[in-house]
Amino acid sequence: MSHASDDSTGKPATAFRSSEWFARAGKYGFIPRSWMKSQGFVPEMLDGRPVIGICNTWSELTNCNRHLRDLAEHVKRGVLMAGGFPLEFPVTSLGEPLMRPTTMMFRNLVAMDVEETIRANPIDGVVLLAGCDKTTPALLMGAASCDIPTILVSGGPMLNGRFKGRTLGSGTDMFKLDEEYRTGRISKAELDAAEAAMSRSAGSCMTMGTASTMASLAEAMGIGLPMNGSTPAVDSRRAVLSEQAGIRIVELVKQGITISQILTREAFENGVKVNGAIGGSTNAVVHLLALAGRLGVPFNLEDWDRLGRDIPTLVDLKPSGRFLMEEFFNAGGLPAVMERLRDRLKLDAPVVEGGTIGERIAGAESWDDEVIRPLDNPLTPKGGMMVLKGNLAPDGAIIKPSAASPRLMQHRGRAVVFETAEDFRARIDDPDLDVDADSVLVLKNAGPRGYPGMPEVGSMALPRKLLEQGVTDMVRVSDARMSGTAFGTVVLHVAPESAIGGPLALVRTGDIIVLDTAARKLELEVDEAELARRRAAFVPPQPAFERGYGKLFIDHVQQADKGVDFDFLVGASGTPPSKVSF
Ligand code: FES
Repeated sequence: MSHASDDSTGKPATAFRSSEWFARAGKYGFIPRSWMKSQGFVPEMLDGRPVIGICNTWSELTNCNRHLRDLAEHVKRGVLMAGGFPLEFPVTSLGEPLMRPTTMMFRNLVAMDVEETIRANPIDGVVLLAGCDKTTPALLMGAASCDIPTILVSGGPMLNGRFKGRTLGSGTDMFKLDEEYRTGRISKAELDAAEAAMSRSAGSCMTMGTASTMASLAEAMGIGLPMNGSTPAVDSRRAVLSEQAGIRIVELVKQGITISQILTREAFENGVKVNGAIGGSTNAVVHLLALAGRLGVPFNLEDWDRLGRDIPTLVDLKPSGRFLMEEFFNAGGLPAVMERLRDRLKLDAPVVEGGTIGERIAGAESWDDEVIRPLDNPLTPKGGMMVLKGNLAPDGAIIKPSAASPRLMQHRGRAVVFETAEDFRARIDDPDLDVDADSVLVLKNAGPRGYPGMPEVGSMALPRKLLEQGVTDMVRVSDARMSGTAFGTVVLHVAPESAIGGPLALVRTGDIIVLDTAARKLELEVDEAELARRRAAFVPPQPAFERGYGKLFIDHVQQADKGVDFDFLVGASGTPPSKVSF
């Protein structure tokens, strides 16, 4: 390929974005070429091939992503095979089990890292390697704001946990084991042994938690290849999929097909419906809202209820059901689910391998109707998210019906209020706590700004004294999120949050709260005059950070109904022509 120079900086007239660096004449091309050659690349590699960035969230601090460097090698092989020039680069990783106060506080930071790294470098297309919960939305958000050709490759779920003849699902069974230990049904030694048995391979949580949900939605929305969601992390077919992504991204660059051409409104509609069918995580709500905001796709909180309302949950996986991702993969994975939903999907939505989602899923079969249930025998007839509104949540709140107890979906109960997560932990097991099975547990100051970072504390463990009485579920209300592996009648994402004076801040122990999911209502039965008095007396909590990223987060984070993105990151800036700096 020839690159005739067209200005004094030796700028090439044609070809790819990376040509602005590598195909310039004179010193402006000498410098990037020469220094890249220090890594041992042959000159042909720098001669007009599309440069494919491999954006890697590998980290030993993120156990779920520990195999991503291996997968990166497979992506590279595919890129080379297709005639591209692969360059792997790291971005900040986000490991759920270790990061404090919560990975959600850093999702936007990683999205900025991805966006600015892509834009600042000679990258024509990108393969995103993600796994643990927030890494998927963070990488997609960053790439979306650059709007370059993109494929997401997930790390895949870990192998099933096994303990004493019992299958252990990440997170979900941890919550159960914790309750068994707290009520004396298992010993400390047994708890320790279960701890080692639950997480026994590379990969992300193998329940339909947030990681599996986001990997599946990436597949459903066409930005991931078929079976991206469910292929186990250590299965050789995960490596093959990575190699295929490497081949395909080169073609996307040559055709100029960018992420915004794949992630259309139709893709988001399919994402919401598939989330209902797989019993996906509540966290998908904020992540898809934020991603749509980057892409300028018209998509809002109400869409989650409207589009997902009548979608049955077909996939019988924990936390809502019985099985785990390995069984889901063996049963046929997402193509089989989507084929069963065919009549409700936007079949013309494009996919990264070319063609449409309708073509991708045509004829896909389920090999196990216990795991991927038929439409006439769903796990839950209505599996989508419910969006609640009312005087307690003027801008909305959500509940996941497939994880909730049907008997509590219409409920009127007395609030037991915890001012903070620390207050909750300190008092929940107090034998003198004035609480019964009909009470509504309320947690404040766990929203985007309040905690900050909207941690996954919304599924509040039940009081020990009620667990000992055999109580298994209660209505819980907060401005927090909950783990994708958690379950219960849990109202989340209340907006506006309490820390900025939302009505949740005004609730006091003893107030009556009404949850009426049929009417999509969440109400506080306190008269307006009393609420006005409480509002006038409201004192916002001290911000948790006065400098650094924490302050940036508190100053700019939006509420849950807007996806918890920063106000200044909404939208995209593309990849405008670069300025040379030497
Ligand atoms: Fe990483 Fe669950 S902790 S996916």
